[in-house]
Parts: sequence; structure tokens; C-alpha cells
Amino acid sequence: MGRVGLGVAVGCAVVTCAIAAALVGRRARSWWRWARVVGVVGQFEEDCATPVWKLRQVVDAMVVEMHAGLASDGGSKLKMLLTFVDTLPDGDEDGVYYALDLRGTSCRVLKVQLGGSGPKIINHKVEQQQIPEELVSSTSEVLFDFIALTLKEFIEREENGQVPGSKKELGFTFSFPIRQLSVSSGVLIKWTKGFTIEDVVGKDVSQCLEEAMSKNGLHMQVAALVNDPVGTLAVGHYDDADTVAAVIIGDGTNACYIERSDAIIKYQGLLTDSGFMIVNMEWGNFWSSHLPRTSYDIALDDESPNRNDQGYEKMISGMYLGEIVRRVLHRIAEVSEIFGDSAHHLSVPFILRTPLMAAMHEDDSPDLREVGRILEESLQTSGLSLKTKMIVVRVCDIVTRRAARLAAAGIIGILKKIGRDGSGGVASGRTKGKPRRTVVAIERGLYTNYSMFRVYMNEAITDILGEEIAQNVVLRISEDGAGIGAALLAAAYSSKR
Ligand code: BGC
Repeated sequence: MGRVGLGVAVGCAVVTCAIAAALVGRRARSWWRWARVVGVVGQFEEDCATPVWKLRQVVDAMVVEMHAGLASDGGSKLKMLLTFVDTLPDGDEDGVYYALDLRGTSCRVLKVQLGGSGPKIINHKVEQQQIPEELVSSTSEVLFDFIALTLKEFIEREENGQVPGSKKELGFTFSFPIRQLSVSSGVLIKWTKGFTIEDVVGKDVSQCLEEAMSKNGLHMQVAALVNDPVGTLAVGHYDDADTVAAVIIGDGTNACYIERSDAIIKYQGLLTDSGFMIVNMEWGNFWSSHLPRTSYDIALDDESPNRNDQGYEKMISGMYLGEIVRRVLHRIAEVSEIFGDSAHHLSVPFILRTPLMAAMHEDDSPDLREVGRILEESLQTSGLSLKTKMIVVRVCDIVTRRAARLAAAGIIGILKKIGRDGSGGVASGRTKGKPRRTVVAIERGLYTNYSMFRVYMNEAITDILGEEIAQNVVLRISEDGAGIGAALLAAAYSSKR
């Protein structure tokens, strides 16, 4: 071989080696990148784990906190609030009733026609109005004017331009913690779900609404002020007498149940004729060291307007699930480049809303088309690999599974407290040797519109109780129960006046 030939051969060898080294280098970088991604997701999954023994610890902690909250005000983070609802609608209620349901990001107005002589809702009509974002941190006057006007316009449409002349009874569902003064009045204890209208805290919200209604020419009075699960329970029990509790799983989460009045130690002076009262647990504020909390939950809480509050809600409800996923994806973007140039969008809080997260989780197309579309629209990503989309779905799955299983443990906690968990429990409610059919009414989109959430929740109920006993526990979807129940209670309590 001549000199030239040798030179060419050496040159070729050098180029080949360089290409091989570049390829090996790229492979190694890609391998490390994925190893880091897998590490983040694996750690998150481990921290979110809810094996059945842990769920049982949560069940027991819920029971302990329920007792403590019933024993004294401030005895537990579970407020266990009195509702003064000590009789439930029985079917005698008759006539047309209106209700206003202030949920959080939206409010609903309802017209309910009751038939009397037996549980019968002849008709109901609902309209929804979004709460403009700026109202969430406005003033009492602005908020109540807005909802009073929404109600007035609805009634005018329904009554052909007429508004009630004399004081008509109204059901008011107010989905925030209230210390009730009576069945029709109560003061706001604190805001949740991102609301920060300070001048409402400590005020009677029925009075605020009545003043705003009267200022706007609507002469109605609040006959029943209820927290949302209380409305759901009233209508659930009206439809099915085995209903003993109700749970809301939407933007926020909460539960209430029928408690024996003698078990409400802190209000011993207030024994009721019926022997029971609905207790509003405000379970979103439940806390226990057994809850599987991750660094992402801690950071979310630290940056929230209600730090150290609503810890259970922040792991379960729709306001937060998308945000937890966003935080984990942001961490993944920090340790790898799998989201490419759009990674910085992941640093924007609440950019990934829970309904989008649910839609990605439920995408069953082979190439995860929906996941790609949603990420493209909300994060301006393009051309994400299938592997990356699969990672996103995995994170959604971990977050939702933990939420649904923890909510299931909360429900079993309530059933255990009232002796309906088939364990032979503390109280009555169990025919010897045979667990009784027990219905829990459940409302709001996270449960009703998200099938994976329902699947995981039902699965956890069976895991905790065992198949035989779980068969007796019916989770029944309630549509608009919170609002319809308020109208029903307005009817029931106005006829008692
Ligand atoms: C509120 C509860 C309400 C629940 C569901 C929570 O944030 O504290 O009062 O029932 O959301 O709407």
C-alpha cells in the first residue's frame, strides 16, 4: 500500500471510530436520561404507595379523628360540624322551590318541583354559571351580588319576568366550611379551593345572600343553608332509605353522615327529637401521618394560600390532581430533556387542569394520540415520543390511584365509625351475623366523569372490606344532589316553621 493509500485507510478508521464514539455517547446519554426519568417516577410511585395495610391504617386514623372531632371543638383537624339537619325529607314536601348552589369555580341555580305524597321530584331544572376568576379574591359584596343576580335572572326566566313578591323560601348550598347557627344560617369559618375573600370570613353567609338579593329586588329568604354533601345526603336518603353518608369528590372533597345525637359529645345539650343529626365532617382537612405524602405534596401545600390546611383534599380532589402531575413532570423535565424546548411551560402552576389529566389517563389509542394533542395544546410540545407519552400516563395513573384509594379508605372510616363496615363495630346497624345494605351517595365530576377513578375506588373498597362485605356497600352516583337536596330541605324546614 502506498503512502496515499495508508493515509486514506487511517483517515477512514479515525472517522469510523469518531462516528462509533458519537453513537455510543448518544446512546449512553439517552440511557442515562431514561434512567433518571425512571428513577423520578419510580421514587414517586414508591412514595405514593397505598397497600391495603396502609389503607387500613388510614381507616383507623379516620375513626380516631372522628371521635376526637365529635368530643370537642378543635379536638381534631376534622371539624365534625353540626348541621342542625335532624329530620330528613320524607316525601310530604310539596310545591316549587328554588336553590342556589355555590360550588367553587361555578355556581348553579335550580328550580325543583316536588309532588308530595311519597318521595317524588316531578321536575327539576338546572343552569350553571362560571364564577369569573377575579371574583375569587374580590369582596363579599361583589361575590354575593354576582350570585344573587344569577339567581334573579334565572327566576325571571322561569316565572316569565315575574320575581316573587312576598318572601319565598330558598335552599342555599354553600360549599365551604360553615359553623351553622341554625338550619338556615351559619358563618364562614375559612375559605378553601383557592378563594380568598377575607371580608366574608366570620360573616353569616345567609344574611350576606339575603341582603344582596333584596338590594337587587329579589325577595327571598334562606330556609336551608347546607354544605354540599348534606344536600347530596338529603336527596340520597329521600331516594333510598339505606343511604347513610354522602361524599363530594370534585374541585374539593368532603363527606357527611347520619350520626346519633348522643355520640356528638361536644353538643350534648342539643339532643334532637329524632335522635340523630347530619354531621358535616369537613374531611378535606383530615390529616394523619399514615397518609402517603410526597415531596411534591409538600411543595404544593407550601405554595398554596391555605398552607397546612386541607391536606387530604390536596391529595384527592380535582383542584389539585392535575397540579401534582404537573409538578412531577416538571421534575422529570429538570433531570432529562424528554419534553424538549417546551419544558419551561411545565413550570407554570396549575397549567395542567385535572379534566385534561383524566383525559390523558383514559387515552386508549395505541399511539396515545390524545395525550400528544393535550400536551401540544397546553404545553406547546411537539413530536413527543411514545415513550414520553407513556411516562405521562404512568404519572397520571399513580396520582389518581392514590387519590381514589385514599377516598375509599375515608368512606370505610365513616362506615366503621357507625358500625356499618361489617366488622361487628361499635354501634348498631348490623343485623346479627349479616351486614346490612349500606348506600353512600357520591357526587361531582371527579367521580362521576372519570371512570378510572371509580374503578380504583371500588377496587380499594373491596381490598379493605373483602369481597363478601363489600357487596353490601353501594356507592351511588348522585346528579345535582347538592342543589336538589337544598331545595328539598328548604321545603321540609319551611313546612316545620
Ligand atoms: C370545602 C367543603 C366542601 C368541599 C366540596 C371543600 O373545600 O371545605 O365545605 O364541602 O370542598 O365542595
